[in-house]
Amino acid sequence: MKTTISEVAKHIGEDVTIGSWIANKRSSGKIAFLQLRDGTGFMQGIVVKAEIGEEKFQEAKALTQETSLYVTGTIVEDERSLFGYEMQIKDFEVIHEAVDYPITPKNHGTEFLMDHRHLWLRSKKQHAIMKVRNEIIRATYEFFNENGYVKIDPPILTGSSAEGTTELFHTQYFDEEAYLSQSGQLYMEAAAMAFGKVFSFGPTFRAEKSKTRRHLIEFWMIEPEMAFMDHEDSLNVQENYVSHIASSVLKNCSLELQTLERDTAMLEKISAPFPRITYDEAVDMLKEKGFDDIEWGEDFGAPHETAIAESFDKPVFITHYPKDIKAFYMKPDPDRSDVVLCADLIAPEGYGEIVGGSQRIDDLKLMEQRYDEHGLTGEAYEWYLQLRRYGSVPHSGFGLGLERTVAWIAGVEHVRETIPFPRLLNRLYP
Ligand code: 4AD
Ligand code: MG
Repeated sequence: MKTTISEVAKHIGEDVTIGSWIANKRSSGKIAFLQLRDGTGFMQGIVVKAEIGEEKFQEAKALTQETSLYVTGTIVEDERSLFGYEMQIKDFEVIHEAVDYPITPKNHGTEFLMDHRHLWLRSKKQHAIMKVRNEIIRATYEFFNENGYVKIDPPILTGSSAEGTTELFHTQYFDEEAYLSQSGQLYMEAAAMAFGKVFSFGPTFRAEKSKTRRHLIEFWMIEPEMAFMDHEDSLNVQENYVSHIASSVLKNCSLELQTLERDTAMLEKISAPFPRITYDEAVDMLKEKGFDDIEWGEDFGAPHETAIAESFDKPVFITHYPKDIKAFYMKPDPDRSDVVLCADLIAPEGYGEIVGGSQRIDDLKLMEQRYDEHGLTGEAYEWYLQLRRYGSVPHSGFGLGLERTVAWIAGVEHVRETIPFPRLLNRLYP
């Protein structure tokens, strides 16, 4: 009977066949240990000379890394391994012999591994990271579907910019100039006026010349937008969503978290409510922590975010940033026009901003004023104004960066390992 490594717990004591690859191997005179992987997981297979016969045993000893094969044998429990099961191999049939697989068990440099990303994805660590990513995606759909949101897909090719013009990827759209989407938000606002509560999940492009461990040129963003919800309501949604992500990964990826040697005690603390501090309080905190040169009105950099996060063991919201360092669409605080009703959610342990969100300007006059201040003219922005002309309502939304969230939850240092094929400043291959 054919099965997969993920299903072997249902087949203890039975003989099964699994399509696999050789991840690693070691052997002695009488016994060979094959580290098998089949895409669903990793498991040890044992070949005993006395049982399989001399000829087959020599064949097993000669198996090369990443050779593909069908293995047949009995599934038994194995308390010594993390996985808990192994196979006593009775027979195997090679499908394709791999010669000189480039990624050997020795240490390779990051650039070499990135050049071989198409193969590196097969490794145990990369496999665990992608499984965590997959669980976060699953939990995202679950959370928004269970809470009455409609999934709406905004366009990727756009005629206007959402987050400012410096980070846009330009492209030609027949006779017109177009851009790759840097955020679906403006379209999600239109969708919220049609469907109430919506979310998007798609690729996003930023032509930033940044080379930090938090920056990708192409990344995936989840962007919920809610009609009739104010800034506070939105923070509640965000903390519940992020808590749901953490608890889902803890529940469904325990093996992967162990493989990644993730300190799960940190993740167990992640439950709503999250602490909230204002930008003003954050500036004071930074001054106390010795950042003497930070001035009110400046944006925070990675070291600032890390320093603030150190004071909390959960993600922390920094709210009410100065209007001048945030996007044109954010609603000013009615009690104080120099700050806006917005929040960045900063992850613990130095992973930085994982969510950015705000209440949006719903007043037509004020939005027209912002257009003037930001030089937003032309047809490309006209439709967005119309949302304020026809039945405008208070509304809020946010964007969660998938890769930064995966990096934090999985405890991976750099976002380049959290997306299957990263697009970086110096990398478009493979
Ligand atoms: O803060 P950002 O730029 O916000 C927006 O785009 C809003 N329009 C979202 C909204 O309100 N609908 O980006 C949101 C999140 C960040 O907090 C970060 O997690 C991620 O997207 N992000 C990046 N991730 C990887 N590489 C980059 N270059 C990123 N830029 C932003
Ligand atoms: Mg931001």
